[in-house]
Amino acid sequence: MNPFISFIGGGNMARALTSGLLRNNHPAERLCVSDPNIEARELFAAQGVCVLSDNVQAVQQANIIVLAVKPQALAAVAHDLGTQLRPEQLVISIAAGVRIDTLRRWLGGHSRIVRAMPNTPALVQAGATGLYAPSEVSAEERALAESLMRAVGVCVWVQSEALLDSVTALSGSGPAYAFLVMEAMQAAGEKLGLDAATARLLTLETIFGAARLALESNEEPSVLRARVTSKGGTTERGIAALEAAGLMMAFENALQAARNRAAELATLLDAGDQA
Ligand SMILES: NC(=O)c1ccc[n+]([C@@H]2O[C@H](COP(=O)([O-])OP(=O)(O)OC[C@H]3O[C@@H](n4cnc5c(N)ncnc54)[C@H](OP(=O)(O)O)[C@@H]3O)[C@@H](O)[C@H]2O)c1
Repeated sequence: MNPFISFIGGGNMARALTSGLLRNNHPAERLCVSDPNIEARELFAAQGVCVLSDNVQAVQQANIIVLAVKPQALAAVAHDLGTQLRPEQLVISIAAGVRIDTLRRWLGGHSRIVRAMPNTPALVQAGATGLYAPSEVSAEERALAESLMRAVGVCVWVQSEALLDSVTALSGSGPAYAFLVMEAMQAAGEKLGLDAATARLLTLETIFGAARLALESNEEPSVLRARVTSKGGTTERGIAALEAAGLMMAFENALQAARNRAAELATLLDAGDQA
């Protein structure tokens, strides 16, 4: 039987996940969403999903509880749920930057917790999610967490919780880097005389097409790049200009800065609750 999954918080991510699960034939009657806003609840109710305004009630019949509120709201939510959880219930937190130890403390010592770090393309079922679970979580529970997150895209497991900060820096913040690259390419295209609509379409389709080509190939991006860079050609000139402008170092610096900030925010969220 499909697990009964309750979502605490019915925002963007809960909508993406429930839509993905329903598309994968998870029965609507085995999904529940708890959110204080009537408008949010109505959207889920229209899909046949059970809706509640009481988080404690929502976790009662759940096998899996997905914590899908903003990180700042999570301490209060978790404190309320802590005394209600049964040891066998699996908690999946998608809240950015709340460490397992912090969450375990908020949940009154609950041990079955998986952390997931999805990204915004999950909203169009093209997400990339990093997952981490401590040793208390069984292989079967890991498989359950993974199958849930696969409803919105690909999943990868990392071996230490600290690596989730690296996932946050790469794929969590990554869509914004990609949008910035798109912005830069589109603006540069316009400077070469293309109208805005044409520059936009060519930019987006090129990035989408290149990602698809790379995903469908076994070759590394560096090999694919070399293959389209003929000696003395136009691409060679363009790439040389990007390299001279320090593109590789710029990305290295960006990811390090984002990773450091993720670690800082996790420490602040933890300390904020203890202060
Ligand atoms: N969006 C992303 O791409 C992304 C990526 C990675 C991780 N995440 C994580 O996913 C989580 C959810 O993000 P989101 O974008 O879905 O946020 P969101 O759209 O703001 O959804 C959160 C929902 O929870 C509701 N809520 C607030 N307090 C609540 C409570 N006490 N009990 C139940 N529901 C409550 C909110 O209502 P109000 O609007 O009234 O506050 C809102 O409807 C966050 O922790 C975020 O860090 C999101």
